Amino acid sequence: MLKSTIAPMLSTLYPQKLFPIKLASFCSALPRSPPTVRQNASTNIPTLETPSYILPPASAYVHLPFCRKRCHYCDFPILALGSSSTETADDDPRISNYINLLIREMEATQTNFNQHPPLETVFFGGGTPSLVPPRLVAKVLDTLRSKFGLRLDAEISMEMDPGTFDAKKLKELMGLGVNRVSLGVQAFQEELLKACGRAHGIDEVHEAIEIINSCGVGNWSLDLISSLPHQTQEMWEESLKLTVEANPNHVSVYDLQVEKDTKFGSLYIPGEFPLPNDTQSAKFYRMASKKLSEANYGHYEVSSYSKNGFECKHNYTYWINKPFYAFGLGSASYINGTRYSRPKKLKDYTDYVKNLEGGLVDLSQEGDDVDEWEMAMDIVMLSLRTSKGLNLKSFGDDFGSEVVVELCKVYEPYMRSGHVLFLDDERREIKEDEFSSLVLDDEKLENEIGFIRLSDPDGFLLSNELISLAFGVIDP
Ligand SMILES: C[S@@+](CC[C@H](N)C(=O)[O-])C[C@H]1O[C@@H](n2cnc3c(N)ncnc32)[C@H](O)[C@@H]1O
Repeated sequence: MLKSTIAPMLSTLYPQKLFPIKLASFCSALPRSPPTVRQNASTNIPTLETPSYILPPASAYVHLPFCRKRCHYCDFPILALGSSSTETADDDPRISNYINLLIREMEATQTNFNQHPPLETVFFGGGTPSLVPPRLVAKVLDTLRSKFGLRLDAEISMEMDPGTFDAKKLKELMGLGVNRVSLGVQAFQEELLKACGRAHGIDEVHEAIEIINSCGVGNWSLDLISSLPHQTQEMWEESLKLTVEANPNHVSVYDLQVEKDTKFGSLYIPGEFPLPNDTQSAKFYRMASKKLSEANYGHYEVSSYSKNGFECKHNYTYWINKPFYAFGLGSASYINGTRYSRPKKLKDYTDYVKNLEGGLVDLSQEGDDVDEWEMAMDIVMLSLRTSKGLNLKSFGDDFGSEVVVELCKVYEPYMRSGHVLFLDDERREIKEDEFSSLVLDDEKLENEIGFIRLSDPDGFLLSNELISLAFGVIDP
């Protein structure tokens, strides 16, 4: 049930790995799993009319891969600098050389749009972007501004690790326009931080929270990981309590993914001690949902919670299938209906940038074209992870009413079991009796049901299975 967690934004859209995702950054784009979609588009496949994915991107993901060391669970494309690096990072040539490469990539990117509205969101993900000196972050922002434009009110997020910044550095970053911080805490227990191989201890966590609050960052998020080895319910409850006390506007809760080729991958088997089993992991999930909801955090996506109005705008781009640029090692862009993943090794990425400058990379030719049915699955998968759910009217306009009716029918038993909610256009819940009369007439069903969403937490907990069911309807 629970163990198939991380997916979309990191590794593009992975039907086999759905539930709580490392969503903060759309980095480390692994190649898509082999498409299980209809490859031979037949004539009755509807054509998308004004799809948002062909608009110029209004978002950019920027991958800053440096870390002091690699955490034991992490399989992101990172470059470990060594643990004494916080002091020396300021003039580390590895960082400045990478930033030069990144800027060259941005400058060599062909936009091919007649008009380019300025960017609305920028997300610096990592790695540990807070290791990068502000003067180099300034260069990246200047390049984005001159190449694509950057709105004055753009959401500019940065992932930061405890122990890698002080108030002076944070204020400098804020002065450059960084207005949203995503703090990687993961756990509030020294022994768990150690077991994860984090480069910081609990004192730095408290210090980082203090710095963020005292600098007046108006919009910040705190990341936690559940189902860590030897993590107990008491520890998890304590982490949630201290999270609420830290008073971020946003919380991301990821269920541990044991990735192959990581230290955890060599030490642990999912579901076996010292990792929790599925039932225990589900308890962690329910507890997070309960405690954070009680503290006024809306559960707006499977692994994301926020105070009203503090949903992450950048991540919404991914969830509503809008296009976005991506720059840097291992990052994945989505432009004109094509996903393109950059190399994960520095040498290969360096060659990639040179080829881009030499006109030898044509993103539109070499990327992974997303056909209509893949797109339908992406839309279902991403939107069902959000509390808004799937908008059946626009889905029907794009992919046909038959598929909408079939989706409603396939989810009927799950509506009755409380895992799926049917809502009308005004988001009023359609109860069982009303549904029973609608289901007799396909046209009524199509007209009356505006949205399908998964319930919180039961439906979200079953999201893998429920989304797979929808895939079966789209690609029988
Ligand atoms: C790109 S990482 C953030 C990097 C940042 N340097 C840090 O570690 O705090 C974004 C988030 O993904 C989550 N994450 C990374 N690997 C994970 C894994 N294997 N399982 C669950 N969550 C993971 C962590 O919560 C992390 O904060």
